[in-house]
Amino acid sequence: MTTGTPRAFVVGHPIAHSRSPLIHGHWLAEHGIAGSYERLDVTPEAFPEFIRALLDSGFRGGNVTIPHKEAACALADTLTPRAQKIGAVNTLVVEPDGRIRGDNTDAPGFCAHLDHSLGADWPARGNGTAVVLGAGGAARAIVVGLAERGMRRIRVANRTPARAEAVAALAPGIADALAWDDLPAALAEAGLLVNTTSLGMKGQPPLEIDLARLPPGAAVADIVYAPLETDLLAAARRRGLDAVDGLGMLLHQAVPGFAAWFGPRPAVTPALRDRIVADLAP
Ligand code: ATR
Repeated sequence: MTTGTPRAFVVGHPIAHSRSPLIHGHWLAEHGIAGSYERLDVTPEAFPEFIRALLDSGFRGGNVTIPHKEAACALADTLTPRAQKIGAVNTLVVEPDGRIRGDNTDAPGFCAHLDHSLGADWPARGNGTAVVLGAGGAARAIVVGLAERGMRRIRVANRTPARAEAVAALAPGIADALAWDDLPAALAEAGLLVNTTSLGMKGQPPLEIDLARLPPGAAVADIVYAPLETDLLAAARRRGLDAVDGLGMLLHQAVPGFAAWFGPRPAVTPALRDRIVADLAP
């Protein structure tokens, strides 16, 4: 174990937009820990060398974001089974024996957020059926997370069907790819709809989807958090459905890393949320 002032990082390229320093800074202050959490801009070319130098750097680990999540998966010494399955790492921990462990905390972070927002029995909604829109990195993590939590059927719809097939293959026998045109019928049986596409994000086109077929009692989750209240979530609320915003996943995915680098397991509190919401305000 590295001694001295505990240090962790978030590495990406670009990295200026990352809210992770705010989140971890809030927790460091809350727990009175004299540690640091640093923002590092590292290019893809320099990333392998960055990983090689980690052991001697004094860092206890850090977060990895775009575009390095797949490279971190390839370069870590060990992977959690979840990171291996998802093929992407967002959390690195320098172990006491010097090995660098890669984990993916997006999957449990998303599920923890649903636990807090909906109660722990959400996987039973809609007889355990979810519809996931999109097939990028976030969808991979979420499909794995939903399958781990015991969802019985996960339907993945994406603009590019081949990518939906690839994501569905992460949960064989549970997930399948769904043609976009078949969405209305699938929604009629779903207890959870998750948007993992970038549609609805500030500056992007809106996600156009008719929620009329979703049964009462279904929940709609968006991973977009800028804006916090997307058109999708507003439409869900208008229908009286539970609406879960994307900020919680960002906050909850940070918890395991903080605990590994700094000791205490931090809480996702309204005060933390308010702080990030204020920072997101235009
Ligand atoms: P992330 O890693 O954050 O999930 P990503 O890998 O870029 O990001 O994935 C973005 C997702 O949004 C993809 O599912 C993408 O669809 P494609 O796989 O067809 O590219 C989806 N997406 C982005 N813009 C879209 C658009 N205009 N219409 C439909 N889907 C879109």
